Amino acid sequence: YIQRDATSTRSVRESPIAFVFDIDGVLIRGSNVLPEAKRALRILEGNNELGVKIPYILLTNGGGVSEEERCRRLSKLLDQPIGISQYIQAHTILKSLAHKYENDSVLVLGGRQNILDVAREYGFKHPYTTLDIKAWNPSIWPFRSLTDSEIASAQKVDFSNINFRAILVFHDPRDWALDTQIALDVIRSGGVIGGPHLPPSADPKVDLVFCNPDLLWRNDFPVPRLGQGAFKEAFQAVYKASTGKTYPYLQFGKPTTATYKFAEQVLKDRIVEVQGTQVGKLPQIYMIGDNPASDIAGANGAGWKSVLVHTGVYDPEDGKPTHEPTFQADNVEEAVRQAISREI
Ligand code: G3P
Ligand code: MG
Repeated sequence: YIQRDATSTRSVRESPIAFVFDIDGVLIRGSNVLPEAKRALRILEGNNELGVKIPYILLTNGGGVSEEERCRRLSKLLDQPIGISQYIQAHTILKSLAHKYENDSVLVLGGRQNILDVAREYGFKHPYTTLDIKAWNPSIWPFRSLTDSEIASAQKVDFSNINFRAILVFHDPRDWALDTQIALDVIRSGGVIGGPHLPPSADPKVDLVFCNPDLLWRNDFPVPRLGQGAFKEAFQAVYKASTGKTYPYLQFGKPTTATYKFAEQVLKDRIVEVQGTQVGKLPQIYMIGDNPASDIAGANGAGWKSVLVHTGVYDPEDGKPTHEPTFQADNVEEAVRQAISREI
């Protein structure tokens, strides 16, 4: 694992292995960090039989806050500095879309009102939430009242003059009913809320983008919770009941190829950052995840090795996983130890 650094005689110890960690159900469950997670990261930071720092990044279908804020929270939880160069969340990839809509109005679903700050930081100049729209015309969804603080934080806009070009589902919607009603209004009117519905045969005028296909994910509740993928199923069921069709959409997040290609580039940059040399031969990448449908399927599709842990969505009692990992492990520490011993 020794490579002569081309520019100096300094020998650089390269690692033959690198890791990509899922977060929910692997490192944490809700706001609780799994004890084996801290031990696993300490192994990678140098406390291993290779005697080298083993590069790793975190790849989650979660989100809702800025990458900086999430890394701050994770560093505290994991007792280990996590930098933004090591972190990819569901909507990080939307930075690459901002230029396409930079002068357009976009509807941002998911998360809380602060998701607007994340969208603006990415380069979207006119993002709005369904709370902004509900505050403008409360009758748009009569079965919910806004709190005083929601009204205070809403953007004061007359949406009868706004033509939405896209609906971007950044994170898990908090109010599926309100979001479904407003997304349906925007899509069926071609972008202007309250406008006349286009015929179902009309070409789609509003882009619909999802960032996380997870039907299920694991927090500290004893059984998995519904994720953004469940909202997508619900929305499409309502759209189909209304029009007889499924509305076309773009899907990012694990296990999509786009997200795994993006992650592989982020990992390569991180390897350079850790080892200080250009990456010669890419080390063997191991993805450690709890959800066969997102973590294992995506890693297998990317040609990485994959480890399925038993601390999240997948339960060995349920029988064979829907996607076969390279191996299974009870938890993330065992997964890391076994993967390293396979590569030395
Ligand atoms: O919203 C979070 C959830 O869908 C998945 O999180 O970290 O298991 O990809 P993670
Ligand atoms: Mg997970």
